[in-house]
Amino acid sequence: MTKLILLTGLTLLLNAQLRSAYQLTCYFTNWAQYRPDLGSFKPDNIDTCLCTHLIYAFAGMRDNKITTMEWNDVTLYQSFNGLKNKNNQLKTLLAIGGWNFGTARFTAMVSTQENRQTFIASVIKFLRQYGFDGLDFDWEYPGSRGSPLQDKHLFTVLVQEMREAFEQEAEQTNKPRLLVTAAVAAGISNIQSGYEIPQLSQYLDYIHVMTYDLHGSWEGYTGENSPLHKYPTDTGSNAYLSVDYAMNYWKDNGAPAEKLIVGFPAYGHTFVLSNPSSTGIGAPTSGAGSAGPYTRQAGFWAYYEICTFLQNGATQAWDAPQDVPYAYKGNEWVGYDNEESFKIKAQWLKLNNFGGAMVWAIDLDDFTGTFCNQGKFPLINTLKNALGLNSTSCTASAQPSKPNGGSGSGSESGSGSESGTGSSSSGDSSGSSGFCAGKADGLYPVANNRNAFWHCANGITYKKNCQAGLVFDTSCECCNWA
Ligand SMILES: *[C@@H]1O[C@H](CO)[C@@H](O)[C@H](O)[C@H]1NC(C)=O
Repeated sequence: MTKLILLTGLTLLLNAQLRSAYQLTCYFTNWAQYRPDLGSFKPDNIDTCLCTHLIYAFAGMRDNKITTMEWNDVTLYQSFNGLKNKNNQLKTLLAIGGWNFGTARFTAMVSTQENRQTFIASVIKFLRQYGFDGLDFDWEYPGSRGSPLQDKHLFTVLVQEMREAFEQEAEQTNKPRLLVTAAVAAGISNIQSGYEIPQLSQYLDYIHVMTYDLHGSWEGYTGENSPLHKYPTDTGSNAYLSVDYAMNYWKDNGAPAEKLIVGFPAYGHTFVLSNPSSTGIGAPTSGAGSAGPYTRQAGFWAYYEICTFLQNGATQAWDAPQDVPYAYKGNEWVGYDNEESFKIKAQWLKLNNFGGAMVWAIDLDDFTGTFCNQGKFPLINTLKNALGLNSTSCTASAQPSKPNGGSGSGSESGSGSESGTGSSSSGDSSGSSGFCAGKADGLYPVANNRNAFWHCANGITYKKNCQAGLVFDTSCECCNWA
């Protein structure tokens, strides 16, 4: 009897733990560093206990090989992957592509087996060199935007070959297998022309559905960025523009629910109202709203910029049929998400047994906590709590994860060996004594040499050098122009 009760208790506990194993995947963008003042965001601004998976956006491609995109990506990769030292459960992925990347290089790369093999080999080398745990394809989109019909099938072929290569590499090196995921379309016509859902889903570890940008100023009337449900007057193909419809379309067409990750935007789309007295959903608009002071892009505000709009006297309204808010003032209108809509969507996510939440992007939430008066990262913390991830522990690794070199070198190819010493070719590593003894993990300047810096990890001292001509800059913990 006691045994039975004990077993039942154990089973309940296990079930509770299994049920709370949702993913909370957060994108980081490598251009957020250029936003002014309080808007500037680097990997060091990331709360290491917030998300289960972090994705670095974006890497590029040249000659069918994966490449860096920003001048200091290698330095940022090091801080980004170094976050795993503070949370031993955290996984990091590198996203390749994005909207501005277009489709041409993907199309050329998938077109022959030789090009695909070149790409896959470069990805494995690159991810291992910098310490990522996987690759996220952000091809927007196969079979659309200039990508030909056959790319729908070739994308499946690429992902299958990538998955098989990752499995083989894991076996040969005895390392955990690299993950392969994709950010995919939420628009039904883009889904239909881009993805062989059942086959593709078999090879992908997670499917990040971009359930946002569903309405915007391009339509000529107000609409929500990421409505959970359609608006009652939406008919025809407009009736498909909701989180619920898109997610269930993926599920009903052959993607396992547990691999499907629901996209949550930490931003809104802005509009200029044609008539300031017509402020509801579907009101006529004359274009994109003004750019925000930090994100500086017309038609788009970060959540923290929306908080300023609200504090400046905008009227908030709740769009009950779609379960999301909107706000307006004068001729400015924004459709967005807040803590309330994130809570409602998270409950709906759990009821539908989806695998978790994905946020675009961690640098758009109120990460400083100074704009919204809701603490730091209010939107992502809402998801963390709603998905039950606040009860799981977050502990530092016993062993710091060491990417294989390239650290702070600023060079695209990196300079490390496969030995995992973490030192660049011109640096040297020493034991647990020396400069770093008793110091917090991080990068420190070297007193008499501006080109060099100390890398401290668990008290171990690594001396490294910036690329020739660059000097170590303490303000960004990176290599910079002198
Ligand atoms: C987690 O968050 C939920 C929702 O806010 C709350 O009810 C619960 O008490 C929290 N659990 C822990 C362990 O903090």
